[in-house]
Amino acid sequence: MNLNGVQLTWLGHATFRIDTPGGRIIIIDPWIMNNPACPPFEKKPKHVDVLLCTHGHGDHIGDAVEIIKQHNPQVVGMPELCGWLEKKGAKQTAMMNKGGTQKIGDIKVTMVHADHSCGIQDGDQLIYGGEACGYVVEFENGLKIYHAGDTNVFGDMAIIRDLYAPEIVMLPIGDHFTMGPREAAYACKLLRPKAVIPMHFGTFPVLTGTPRDFQKLVPGIEVVTMTPGVSIGQLVTTG
Ligand code: NI
Ligand code: MN
Repeated sequence: MNLNGVQLTWLGHATFRIDTPGGRIIIIDPWIMNNPACPPFEKKPKHVDVLLCTHGHGDHIGDAVEIIKQHNPQVVGMPELCGWLEKKGAKQTAMMNKGGTQKIGDIKVTMVHADHSCGIQDGDQLIYGGEACGYVVEFENGLKIYHAGDTNVFGDMAIIRDLYAPEIVMLPIGDHFTMGPREAAYACKLLRPKAVIPMHFGTFPVLTGTPRDFQKLVPGIEVVTMTPGVSIGQLVTTG
C-alpha cells in the first residue's frame, strides 16, 4: 500500500507507530512494553515525538508514563487525561477536546467522538479521565487516517466521513469492550474508507471478533489485516 511516505506499523491491540515523511514518530495509544501483542523487537522505541491518547484504560495508556519519562514527547489527549499525565511527569501536553483540530509538528490532529468509557486506574484509585475519543490525523502529504479508539458504532461517523473523508480507518472489531465485526461493518457503511485496518481483537480471550468474520461483512472494502511489527507504506529516503 502506497501511503506517500507515511509508514504505519501496528504494535498489537490498538497501538500504532507512525513514521511521518518528516521523520517524526507518533504513537497512538502507548501500550508497548506491557502489551502482550507487541513483538519484543518493537518494545524499545528509539525516539517518540508525539503520543495520541484515546482514553485512560490500561490497554491504551498503560506505558504512557514510562514513555514520557524516556522520551518527553508531546502528549495529545482530553484535558482530564493530560492533567493526570502532567502529574505523572508529562512536560509537553497539548490537550484538546472533541471537534477541535490542532497542528502538532507536521501533522494536523482532530479529536472526534468515541462511544466508550474512560476511567484511569491509578493504584487502587479510579480517576475521572474525561471522555474516550478517536482521532483523525492529516499528514503533510495529504493522507488522512482515522483511529476510532475504543468505541461502539455511532451515527455521527457519517459526519466524520462528510467532514474529513479519511482514506484509512483503524476500527476495533474484537467485541465485548468495543464493536464486534457486525458493528464495525456498519461503521464502514458510514465511513466509506478506501481501506480498513482491524484492531483490538485477539489480545484477550473475550475479544473474539476476527478479521475473517469482519471481511465477510464488508465486500468491496479493502481489509488490511496487519501483523504486529510489520509496517505498511514506505519511508521516503532523500539525498
Ligand atoms: Ni477502553
Ligand atoms: Mn481497550
